[in-house]
Amino acid sequence: MNEISVQIKINNNNYERNIKPNTLLIDFLRDDLGLTGTHSGCDTSQCGACMVLHNNSAIKSCSILVAQLNNQEITTIEGLQDKDKLHPMQNSFRNNHGLQCGFCTPGMIISAISLFNENNDPTEDEIRKYLEGNMCRCTGYQNIVKSIEEGAKDMREKG
Ligand code: FES
Ligand code: FES
Repeated sequence: MNEISVQIKINNNNYERNIKPNTLLIDFLRDDLGLTGTHSGCDTSQCGACMVLHNNSAIKSCSILVAQLNNQEITTIEGLQDKDKLHPMQNSFRNNHGLQCGFCTPGMIISAISLFNENNDPTEDEIRKYLEGNMCRCTGYQNIVKSIEEGAKDMREKG
């Protein structure tokens, strides 16, 4: 298969690469760039562990080709923190025990920020509904919801 050239901005870094046209974003992130914080948890576009931000919204990186994002920008879990300072939503997950094994956590945090970008003061019901595309195999939803409520509050206060 002939390769194509793509340019993509990830976590504020510009990449120009020759790739196979059928390269999935998740494989590009993990295998080509070593950004392994984005997890692959299923083959069926259901688990949400692979979420990244595109135009401030969460998308599943297992369901999109890099070629579709030519000249566009995405943010992964690695791009959220500011130098050594965690993003408020990351901090909130840590402070509220919003993770157990941590496998689903990058996707949960990306979805939480995506929700905040649409609705900066979500109710518990709205959070639970928004998380329908994210699965936690440890079933720690109670603390995940609490983490998102407090993370959103912190993000509102920090403006
Ligand atoms: S790996 Fe993308 S939804 Fe499961
Ligand atoms: S914390 Fe283990 S899958 Fe969610």
